[in-house]
Amino acid sequence: MSGITYDYMEKYIQSLIEDNIGVLKELEMYASENSVPIIHREVAKFLELMIHIKKPSRILELGTAIGYSSILMSLASNNKAKIDTIERNLDMLKTARDNIKNYGFMNSIDIIEGDCMEVLKDLDNEYDLIFIDAGKGHYNHFLPECLRLLKQDGIIIADNALFRGMVASDKLVARRKITIVKRMREYLRLVSDNKKFITSVIPMGDGIAVTTRRN
Ligand SMILES: C[S@@+](CC[C@H](N)C(=O)[O-])C[C@H]1O[C@@H](n2cnc3c(N)ncnc32)[C@H](O)[C@@H]1O
Repeated sequence: MSGITYDYMEKYIQSLIEDNIGVLKELEMYASENSVPIIHREVAKFLELMIHIKKPSRILELGTAIGYSSILMSLASNNKAKIDTIERNLDMLKTARDNIKNYGFMNSIDIIEGDCMEVLKDLDNEYDLIFIDAGKGHYNHFLPECLRLLKQDGIIIADNALFRGMVASDKLVARRKITIVKRMREYLRLVSDNKKFITSVIPMGDGIAVTTRRN
């Protein structure tokens, strides 16, 4: 369990979510067998919900891994959204490319190879939804570029925002994670204190922070 909420609560909420089928089930099993971190089931459901509400035409994802969440977001949009997803790990890139080709998502998902910090600077599309799920210690550094790329009424969803509870309590912080925790707190301060934004931090999965600009 994640250390973010009560185990019984998490189990109950997960029990309400139907099991994956098809491509998502296969990718979920691959991730589990190969210890690839993918989004929690509650976060997957939340992304699906947001995509149904927002109907984004362009989505940017930071952190592709094997392509699970990008395929999930594509399916949630009936493959209508155009998704750019950034990954730097060569093994992940190969697996994600194979998955996107073999499962037929070439038309909706583009994988961009490289470090988010570098790639973001070179992008100039505008996105309705940006999903940050890479480099937990750098969300605060990614933020200015994400805001530059975000449509006026766009939404940023940042995963792992509470990072095993450590972000919320010094008592839980493991020493070697101090930098990540400090920077994640900085990210949450930046999106919470600035009056131009509305941010809601939600204790689901590993914690998510949802941010949009005020009207
Ligand atoms: C948690 S996984 C992403 C999981 C994926 N979003 C999913 O749910 O299917 C994070 C990924 O981000 C990649 N990553 C970490 N830091 C990165 C960076 N600075 N630039 C690009 N990719 C990065 C890692 O290699 C890893 O594959």
